[in-house]
Amino acid sequence: MSFSTDQSVIISGVGSYAPPRILTNVELSQMVETSDEWIRTRTGIRERRIAGPEESTSDLAAKAAAEALRDSGLTAGDIGLLVIGTVTPDMPFPNTACFVQQKLGLGKIPSFDVEAACSGFLYTMEIARSLMLVNGYKHALVIGAEKLSSITNWEDRTTCVLFGDGAGAVVLSLVDEPDIGIIRTIMGADGTEANILCVPGGGSASPSTVETIERSMHYIHMQGNQVFKIAVRVMCQSALDILEKAGLAAEDVALVIPHQANNRIIEALAQRLGIGMERFKINLDRYGNTSAASIPIALDEAWRNGRIRSGDLVLFVAFGGGLTWAASLVKWH
Ligand code: UT7
Repeated sequence: MSFSTDQSVIISGVGSYAPPRILTNVELSQMVETSDEWIRTRTGIRERRIAGPEESTSDLAAKAAAEALRDSGLTAGDIGLLVIGTVTPDMPFPNTACFVQQKLGLGKIPSFDVEAACSGFLYTMEIARSLMLVNGYKHALVIGAEKLSSITNWEDRTTCVLFGDGAGAVVLSLVDEPDIGIIRTIMGADGTEANILCVPGGGSASPSTVETIERSMHYIHMQGNQVFKIAVRVMCQSALDILEKAGLAAEDVALVIPHQANNRIIEALAQRLGIGMERFKINLDRYGNTSAASIPIALDEAWRNGRIRSGDLVLFVAFGGGLTWAASLVKWH
């Protein structure tokens, strides 16, 4: 959807932050009944980062956002809007963006969180883009940040091997030029599958009690196999849909930055699109699945490693709890 034909929203700065503590598969195999070999062959993950007890999601987010600001050449006073995608807010309320606003010394700008699980960054970027075009905000900070270790059951081998902590951020800027930057985004959700990937306890449906804690309801619950099948279908469909809507072909895409959940899901996507794996950015081997942070962390690495050039078409595609999905096409300025 486009509000004006002569303005666009570009990504003018990129940054990320991952806590220094590395948790390897070998260490995990000493905690639960698993092995490095199982985790690597089923997921592609070798290690993940884990935040310290003193670090909250807003700390990770603020560090990533400070990097993105530096990269853009702008200062805190230039930012007119702040939106964060996260499922691990510092507190149920106030929103995490308010803590980040304070930590970065931003102005008294609109600041809020978006909860769309692993699709959170793309949802957030589209909401910010739309608000910029409607309300004229010149620059916005968009962040995906997660401390998934805080909702991971470290005794459940079916989930604890998958997730990690981290944050990625972009600065979005409004430019007086058509058809550049974020040229199209599609989003969707299927609430009939809401229960196959969720944190069932601690919300208004089941407020925390001794019983909900004893039943581990405050941790991530996932029917992995079920999620896997839907992920492959929906990621492929979203990628094909957005290309068709934009009148573009898979050959036009210079780089695909997919949500980093499982190597096998990404391989299926590559095969379906007919795009070689060398045109995919993959870093889940070092970070695991960081939910809303996964795409912006991968974008930051790709940008810093010179994998994105002016004029390149970059395809982002994500899938997550909800079940939600989203895809974005960005023509790099
Ligand atoms: O971010 C978006 C949301 N998340 C995802 O996209 C995740 C999607 N799902 C997946 O990536 C995969 O389903 C998993 C990696 C979670 C699991 O892989 P799978 O090939 O679907 O394995 P499975 O769940 O079918 O389990 C196969 C076997 C089972 O044993 P039995 O029943 O065959 O004896 C599991 O108990 O592997 C066992 N298993 C493990 N074994 C060693 C499950 N987890 C582990 C483990 N280590 N960590």
